[in-house]
Amino acid sequence: MRALIFWAFAIHFCLILDRCHCIPKHDRVLSITAATQEQVTVLRNISSHNETALWQPAAPSLIRTDSPVHLHIRAGVVNHVTNLLRSHGLTYSILLENTQELIEKQTRNETSDPRSSGMNHDKFYSLDEIYNWVNKTSEEYPDMVKVILIGSSFEKRPLYVLKLSGKRPAVDKAMWMDCGIHAREWISPAFCLWFVRYVLMFYKQYVDITSIMDKMDIYVLPVMNPDGYVYTWTTNRMWRKNRSVREHSPCVGADLNRNFDANWCSEGASSYACSEIYCGQHPESEPEVEAVANFLRSHKDSVRLYLSMHSYSQMLLFPYSYTHEQARNHAELLALVQEAAAKIRQFYRNQYRFGAGAKTIYLAPGGSDDWAYNLGIKYSFTFELQDRGRYGFLLPPTLIPNACNEALLAVKIIALRVLEKI
Ligand code: ARG
Ligand code: ZN
Repeated sequence: MRALIFWAFAIHFCLILDRCHCIPKHDRVLSITAATQEQVTVLRNISSHNETALWQPAAPSLIRTDSPVHLHIRAGVVNHVTNLLRSHGLTYSILLENTQELIEKQTRNETSDPRSSGMNHDKFYSLDEIYNWVNKTSEEYPDMVKVILIGSSFEKRPLYVLKLSGKRPAVDKAMWMDCGIHAREWISPAFCLWFVRYVLMFYKQYVDITSIMDKMDIYVLPVMNPDGYVYTWTTNRMWRKNRSVREHSPCVGADLNRNFDANWCSEGASSYACSEIYCGQHPESEPEVEAVANFLRSHKDSVRLYLSMHSYSQMLLFPYSYTHEQARNHAELLALVQEAAAKIRQFYRNQYRFGAGAKTIYLAPGGSDDWAYNLGIKYSFTFELQDRGRYGFLLPPTLIPNACNEALLAVKIIALRVLEKI
């Protein structure tokens, strides 16, 4: 009897103990701000660990005092990491503690709303679904859509560009938009799809899009990094780079937005293959970058506006990102994003920051916007879509429409203004 009581007690005690030492079931995302240089060093070390993924900024070297770091931490090391933070006097708050649930929400394949005609607009599409959608769209609008194969990814997936044209004689002006340079930024491809649908559905119905499409063609690359995108669906939701492999290197992938020939691999990029901002072996070493660069080089006389869609943090950026120097038409570019941000604030009550890349976020050489700008495309922008860190990369699908509508408004106003200038 005594033994029984002892065991009952012991088990009970273990349960309590276990609860005290509770290991969180799920990965967490913390927002952590370093106040001192020493804390920056601690934070850089922690975020270099394999069991963590930096959401913001893109790499440990970019961590600074007084700017919040968003860090995704695997369940198994949450306690260890928070203890470390506390022991160094670092303050933090929990951004997300249900990451698994959010990932499931993002990938759930809900039967589409019976009221919509087969297509479900507020869900994230897998790469196969996107390829099917590209096909269907070109069949549905044969007189407005052409599909152009501009190259293939490292793992040999096709890179399709949709060329959208109004029903009018050929024109000599065009704009370009790419989405999904970074694999984990799912709202970006979702925006490209949203944008294409909007253009096709409302051409000849709404004046803004009609006048844009009557004056220029629109090239849209919905997923610039298909290998990375697939990898975020199958294996690691937080993957950023492409999936290229090199001999003698243990690490996979280069950052496609550091691989363009724009002050390539200087401060703000890394030549270390394991870094999230690895610049690749040489400019355009990555087939995805080479394909886009070749296409734009051969269309540089017609393409007047370059847009690249990323997430998250709600920003409208323009060159330069590789230097703190101002672009030649800095004032003009600033006025454009300022107006676009004001429109978003007015209609959606949402805040977007804006400015030159290097000044607004951080030095980041080898980016597509700077490269396109130096190629001669004088209106070149990078958008960072929703949100500002509430969900980060794990934006619930119910927020897709709002995120896309506000960005759409900004794209339209910029395109219309650029058309007035050229
Ligand atoms: N978050 C983006 C990146 O790190 C910013 C891109 C801004 N433009 C640039 N050329 N770096 O790639
Ligand atoms: Zn990005």
